Amino acid sequence: MTRHDRGQAAVPDGAGARAGGPAVRLRGAGKTYGTGHAAVHALRGVDLEVERGEFVVLLGPSGSGKTTLLNLIGGIEPATGGEVIVAGRDLSGLGEDARTAYRRDVVGFVFQFFNLVPTLTALENVRLVAELTGRGDRERSAAALEAVGLAGRGAHFPAQLSGGEQQRVAIARALAKDPELLLCDEPTGALDLETGRGVLRVLQDLNARGRTVLVVTHNAAIAAIAHRVVRMRSGRVTEVTTTAAPATAAEVTW
Ligand SMILES: Nc1ncnc2c1ncn2[C@@H]1O[C@H](COP(=O)(O)OP(=O)(O)OP(=O)(O)O)[C@@H](O)[C@H]1O
Ligand SMILES: [Mg+2]
Repeated sequence: MTRHDRGQAAVPDGAGARAGGPAVRLRGAGKTYGTGHAAVHALRGVDLEVERGEFVVLLGPSGSGKTTLLNLIGGIEPATGGEVIVAGRDLSGLGEDARTAYRRDVVGFVFQFFNLVPTLTALENVRLVAELTGRGDRERSAAALEAVGLAGRGAHFPAQLSGGEQQRVAIARALAKDPELLLCDEPTGALDLETGRGVLRVLQDLNARGRTVLVVTHNAAIAAIAHRVVRMRSGRVTEVTTTAAPATAAEVTW
């Protein structure tokens, strides 16, 4: 029996009771790339609600539509069908400028590939986003680097950091914004167990402070720390399970 099978609670631990409606609501959300014979149906009508303050893990094999789903929720690209509503905003109704503002003001991203600017130091990478968004300053950027265990590495360039350290800079960059919704795509994909746990602990701490966290991964072990686990296959949600007592990051192993 895996941990996420332990309990089927009616209400997600510490999440369902919060007021103000769900953080994320998808209704028949679809995404088709290309047309005609070349069409790829990356998402085929996804219904999903994520409560405010919930920690959700999205599992599925390569190509099942996980990144596409995050991109729709994060306003990186528009759905081609259905509804995507985040914190009461209907993203399908937003123009390009409004979507840019939404990405800037509401969402923090940790991308599958780190997307650090190679010519900026670790601290500058963190500050860049914080300052562009007007949601952070030097102190908060430094504190975010400290939170991911990189206080001493602020002056180093990405090429001088290991893959795991670069991923932690990417997480610090999202933390410095203190977003209401944090979207993470394979945040531990490139990391060893110890470093991966450190990253999960940072995400869990942020969630404990009331932020909504969505983590996409192939790694089923990470599901143990989620309030809810959503499984995807071929562009569809196939199963949603609720965990009565999520594990701490330190208890996870893979
Ligand atoms: N820009 C694009 N143009 C055409 N097809 C795309 C595009 N982006 C994604 N796809 C296709 O959509 C499907 C879902 O892709 P997606 O990146 O969401 O998968 P994933 O679950 O994140 O996979 P992985 O675990 O490998 O990252 C795949 O078949 C992919 O080839
Ligand atoms: Mg992906």
